[in-house]
Amino acid sequence: MVGAESFLFVVPLLSLVATTDTALIPGAGIATNNASDHLALLSFKSLIRADPLQALESWGNRSIPMCHWSGVTCGKRGHSRGRVAALDLDSLNLLGVISSSVANLTFLRRLHLPGNDLHGAVPPVLGNLLYLKHLDLSKNSLVGSIPPSLSQIGHLKNISLEFNSLQGHIPHELGALHNLKVLKLGYNNLTGTIPVEISNLVNLESLHIPYNVLTGEIPTGIGTLVKLSNFSLASNQLTGSIPNALGNLSSLTYIILHTNNLTGNIPSFQSLPFLTVLELGINDLSGCIPSQLGNLTSLEFLDLQMNRLTGGIPESLGNLNLLQLFDLSNNNLTGPIPNSIGNLHLLSELDLDNNNLEGPLPSSMFNLSNLEILDIQYNYYLNGSLPFDMGISFPNLQFFLIDHNQFHGSIPPFLCNASMLEMIQAAHNLLTGTIPNCLGIQLRSLTKLMLEYNHIQATQNDGWWLA
Ligand SMILES: *[C@@H]1O[C@H](CO)[C@@H](O)[C@H](O)[C@H]1NC(C)=O
Ligand SMILES: *[C@@H]1O[C@H](CO)[C@@H](O)[C@H](O)[C@H]1NC(C)=O
Ligand SMILES: *[C@@H]1O[C@H](CO)[C@@H](O)[C@H](O)[C@H]1NC(C)=O
Ligand SMILES: *[C@@H]1O[C@H](CO)[C@@H](O)[C@H](O)[C@H]1NC(C)=O
Ligand SMILES: *[C@@H]1O[C@H](CO)[C@@H](O)[C@H](O)[C@H]1NC(C)=O
Ligand SMILES: *[C@@H]1O[C@H](CO)[C@@H](O)[C@H](O)[C@H]1NC(C)=O
Ligand SMILES: *[C@@H]1O[C@H](CO)[C@@H](O)[C@H](O)[C@H]1NC(C)=O
Ligand SMILES: *[C@@H]1O[C@H](CO)[C@@H](O)[C@H](O)[C@H]1NC(C)=O
Ligand SMILES: *[C@@H]1O[C@H](CO)[C@@H](O)[C@H](O)[C@H]1NC(C)=O
Ligand SMILES: *[C@@H]1O[C@H](CO)[C@@H](O)[C@H](O)[C@H]1NC(C)=O
Ligand SMILES: *[C@@H]1O[C@H](CO)[C@@H](O)[C@H](O)[C@H]1NC(C)=O
Ligand SMILES: *[C@@H]1O[C@H](CO)[C@@H](O)[C@H](O)[C@H]1NC(C)=O
Repeated sequence: MVGAESFLFVVPLLSLVATTDTALIPGAGIATNNASDHLALLSFKSLIRADPLQALESWGNRSIPMCHWSGVTCGKRGHSRGRVAALDLDSLNLLGVISSSVANLTFLRRLHLPGNDLHGAVPPVLGNLLYLKHLDLSKNSLVGSIPPSLSQIGHLKNISLEFNSLQGHIPHELGALHNLKVLKLGYNNLTGTIPVEISNLVNLESLHIPYNVLTGEIPTGIGTLVKLSNFSLASNQLTGSIPNALGNLSSLTYIILHTNNLTGNIPSFQSLPFLTVLELGINDLSGCIPSQLGNLTSLEFLDLQMNRLTGGIPESLGNLNLLQLFDLSNNNLTGPIPNSIGNLHLLSELDLDNNNLEGPLPSSMFNLSNLEILDIQYNYYLNGSLPFDMGISFPNLQFFLIDHNQFHGSIPPFLCNASMLEMIQAAHNLLTGTIPNCLGIQLRSLTKLMLEYNHIQATQNDGWWLA
């Protein structure tokens, strides 16, 4: 049996030599064994300058076998039996650099070192770890660029390098990683464009590169990533339009592209049955809001704020009855607030401020009993009177922001029933009546009350300042 086992052990090394660029693999072909794993781990430890939680205390202790050192898992069978298969050192505040010797852990399948204080570069020799499936070096202080050599690791399923200080371009070579499911490179300083080769990653489920300095356009080839579920490129400097092909990726759950320089129209996404988050805010999108968005019935968060959208709010958006956040603020939308908005029973935040909406609030709106934030300020032409019993309609309301409109009638006394209210901004309207006595007594959370430029009378005991 010993003979059979060592035979199994040799085969992968031979195939390794045959299929990869040996110039990049100094250790390739040299018969490694558990002693070389042992050396590699001690070398890893030697470059850790501080270990405040004594996570590596067992490492190198002669009375503890290597496979029992904390964070070390060895293979159980086959050629990797007794060899290091996983290093799991998550959130241990290890301070130091990643030793290149990790690349000598020939049978490593999982290198999981997030949440430490690792400095220096991602060692390019990691590209030698041909069995690696999972590489997570996120939440460290790594600098330098992403080594193109990672593209040699054909088994890789997960790469997470997010929350570091990596620079340079995303290597186009990564397009060779056909098994990749997760690519997370967010919160770094990556520049350049998104390589078009990304469209070769047909098994990708999560493409997450927010908060970098990426420029250029979103490659239209993204339309081939049929398994894509999480898609975020938020807070970069991307230009061009949002590829229509995204609308064909029926597994999508998140589309997060806010804070870029995207132009053109919002694609008429209509058959994304799992889409829960659509964030396109803070871009330069123009045109109308497509009524087909009303087909995205799994949506919980819809953020289109700060674009240059025109036209009306489609009645069809009233179909999105799982919506919790609905933000169309800071656009150039016109027309009335549609009556269908009353169907959005789970809504907790409604932001329609800084548009050109007009007319009265639909009575259905006062059915939104989960509302915490109602912000419709600066539309100038919203009008009509506010219902007498408004505070009963919105028992959870915290922010009531309706200033710079043309609301008339008396200020609703029943506001006092909205006991969570923190802010009332109703200045610059045509409101009348007296400030309800209760405001200072019942509304203990109230920190801001602005009613100036109305026709409201102050009462003796309110103590609020009015212009
Ligand atoms: C890693 O392997 C290379 C090549 O076999 C060898 O030169 C080096 O000393 C090894 N490093 C450690 C720390 O084992
Ligand atoms: C090594 O591990 C053994 C068994 O856990 C322990 O008793 C001993 O104190 C350790 N030695 C050192 C030097 O930490
Ligand atoms: C290497 O494997 C041999 C045989 O299984 C074992 O006796 C030895 O303790 C192992 N060495 C290390 C460093 O784990
Ligand atoms: C990839 O990462 C996910 C978590 O993001 C984890 O559940 C999965 O097990 C990882 N895959 C591998 C091969 O380790
Ligand atoms: C990115 O670079 C800028 C300017 O050099 C620096 O201020 C910032 O901290 C860097 N951010 C990250 C995440 O490395
Ligand atoms: C998508 O992101 C969510 C939230 O971060 C996470 O729970 C989920 O596992 C991710 N899905 C994939 C396929 O990565
Ligand atoms: C979406 O898929 C359909 C059917 O496969 C195809 O005809 C259409 O061209 C695709 N649309 C885009 C924008 O890729
Ligand atoms: C993106 O928009 C910001 C703010 O409008 C602007 O400062 C920046 O120059 C734009 N970048 C590109 C690449 O267009
Ligand atoms: C999508 O919405 C449009 C307009 O609201 C509607 O005509 C169409 O039938 C819907 N398509 C699907 C697939 O639900
Ligand atoms: C908004 O639209 C109106 C009417 O089309 C137009 O007059 C106005 O200039 C636009 N405002 C902005 C900020 O684009
Ligand atoms: C309210 O606004 C609508 C639409 O601008 C307008 O037609 C109507 O006359 C206004 N009503 C009042 C009482 O100002
Ligand atoms: C608002 O709620 C009341 C009572 O719950 C119901 O009768 C009415 O139809 C609702 N209106 C709308 C527009 O949803």
